[in-house]
Amino acid sequence: MTKLANIDWGNLGFSYIKTDFRYVSNWKDGKWDEGKLVTDNKLTISEGSTALHYGQQCFEGLKAYRTKNGDIQLFRPYENAKRINNSAQRLLMPEIPEEKFIDAILQVVRANEAYVPPYGTGGTLYIRPLLIGVGDNIGVGPASEYLFCVFCIPVGPYYKGGMKPVNYTVSDYDRAAPYGTGMAKVGGNYAASLYSHELARKSGFADCIYLDPTTHTKIEEVGAANFFGITKDDEFVTPQSPSILPSITKYSLLYLAKEFLHLKVAERDVLIDNLDEFKEAGACGTAAVITPIGGIQYKDKLHVFHSETEVGPVTQKLYDTLCGIQFGDLEAPGGWIL
Ligand code: COI
Repeated sequence: MTKLANIDWGNLGFSYIKTDFRYVSNWKDGKWDEGKLVTDNKLTISEGSTALHYGQQCFEGLKAYRTKNGDIQLFRPYENAKRINNSAQRLLMPEIPEEKFIDAILQVVRANEAYVPPYGTGGTLYIRPLLIGVGDNIGVGPASEYLFCVFCIPVGPYYKGGMKPVNYTVSDYDRAAPYGTGMAKVGGNYAASLYSHELARKSGFADCIYLDPTTHTKIEEVGAANFFGITKDDEFVTPQSPSILPSITKYSLLYLAKEFLHLKVAERDVLIDNLDEFKEAGACGTAAVITPIGGIQYKDKLHVFHSETEVGPVTQKLYDTLCGIQFGDLEAPGGWIL
């Protein structure tokens, strides 16, 4: 058990910290059991688990936020419930009823309430639901049993430094194929990114940009996050492709850019040879929140957007609006907060 007194709330990174309780539920003979909270953070599964051999697993990421008056709130958890079931369908896994998914999240947050970082520190409680194929299997086929687990960790910024621009390079490798599993939140997409991430990191970049696997001309994703750019005539643009993960943060920003910041918005192709159209750019996701992109290295040239050190004004406004809603300082659109 992690000693709460040892946690430096203002200096959390994005790394594993064992909290007190996690939720586990088993699927067998066509149905889910009741599920329960446990203290042990080790899962015991069969060596024949399809999650271990064939990558039959998916996961989610969402956060709980401490508000100014000490309450705790979740941001758009029903969207995570929908997305985990889309991922489950894609990999032939049983769906998790929405009420069960939400109940598991609430149980875990309530049981680990003391780990939700205080308001004002910038920290949040990151919640990681996962669904894995288990049981005694060996042939390539769906598992006979499944495990749904939810655990949580207090986190700070995904990239050290937080809301500061970072530079990215363009990967020569692809993350996911069109009509493959790019749209599903499955571990294989992230396993495929580890090598390119390491190459980018060794060359001094925070992470890498993935281009579309068919033509290698269009931006798809930024590391483990989605891409957005602000054009010189104030349009919020984000790429559209069947191999991009549908980020809940990205869709929230599309809405906020239009309804709160009154920008034009578009989901369309973003050409790597036309970065000049953007005055600002960023990566967005639950973990990354908004990470401003200082520059993108492509073909031996670093294309700098607003600045390598300063956050652009539109990016800042988007960040303030999103975080204002998430931490309860701004009124949220209907149904966004639980
Ligand atoms: C998230 O933003 O929640 C993610 O899942 C990205 C990464 C940490 C895997």
